[in-house]
Amino acid sequence: MGWIPEEIDLTRPSAARMYDHFLGGSHNFAVDREAAAAAERAFPGVRLAVRANRSFLRRAVKYLVGKGIRQFLDLGSGIPTIGNVHEIAQGECPDARVVYVDIDPIAVGHGKRILADNPNAAAVLGDMRDPARLLDEPDVRDLLDFGRPVAVLMVAVLHFVPDSQDPWSMVAGYVDRLAPGGYLVVSHGTNEHFSEEETSSFETVREVYQRTTSPIVVRTSAEVAAFFAGLDLVDPGVVRLSDWRPDSEERWKSWCCGVGRKPLS
Ligand SMILES: C[S@@+](CC[C@H](N)C(=O)[O-])C[C@H]1O[C@@H](n2cnc3c(N)ncnc32)[C@H](O)[C@@H]1O
Repeated sequence: MGWIPEEIDLTRPSAARMYDHFLGGSHNFAVDREAAAAAERAFPGVRLAVRANRSFLRRAVKYLVGKGIRQFLDLGSGIPTIGNVHEIAQGECPDARVVYVDIDPIAVGHGKRILADNPNAAAVLGDMRDPARLLDEPDVRDLLDFGRPVAVLMVAVLHFVPDSQDPWSMVAGYVDRLAPGGYLVVSHGTNEHFSEEETSSFETVREVYQRTTSPIVVRTSAEVAAFFAGLDLVDPGVVRLSDWRPDSEERWKSWCCGVGRKPLS
């Protein structure tokens, strides 16, 4: 199988490959499917959550294209699947530029393959926890002009950065580089709307992710709102996934999300 890089540890589940499995993709292994099944047994809503998350991503990108954004930096972009950011953005506006970044070699390897003929998009292997280094990557510098508005997407990825690594400062490292009119998009796991039973089931999910390459942490919506420090929150603010400018009847309560814009002055 040509899409499997040599450095992959096939004995340890990966959050990227589990997510791919939840979305019905094929870039995952038995170890990922077993971990995904354990998470799903404990918490049957997990598939609905990842679909609701993808749906939020689609709505947010369409919103931003409608606001004139033509540059996207998608951090923790995952294994390419249906509804990738470049497909949404370039579908509306062919000259839109997109750089995907992920720490998972399979996500990036597959991304490079599907983007080989796309001069306006690139996939970069990197760790978003080092903003200065990442923003200096040749593909990022070549494709994105931070002198003009860029949308930085951190969708379903900040819950892989523990408080001890200060994700708020890390996000500020990107926000500081945004030109006025640039945007930050965040979705994040939260359990604050859970019943007692759901909270205990979610503990099992957390334990499953503890065994992966990306242990998971959930935060309150107030902690998520703090990622938007210095930005103007787009209506309706930090809300549950399916309450952010919904275009369907789907309802999902366990994650929250928001979009913030860097003020013009
Ligand atoms: C749940 S997936 C989300 C994919 C996509 N953003 C979405 O919402 O559909 C999270 C991704 O973040 C990646 N990731 C985790 N920690 C990361 C880090 N420090 N730097 C870059 N990517 C990271 C994982 O490899 C995984 O592919």
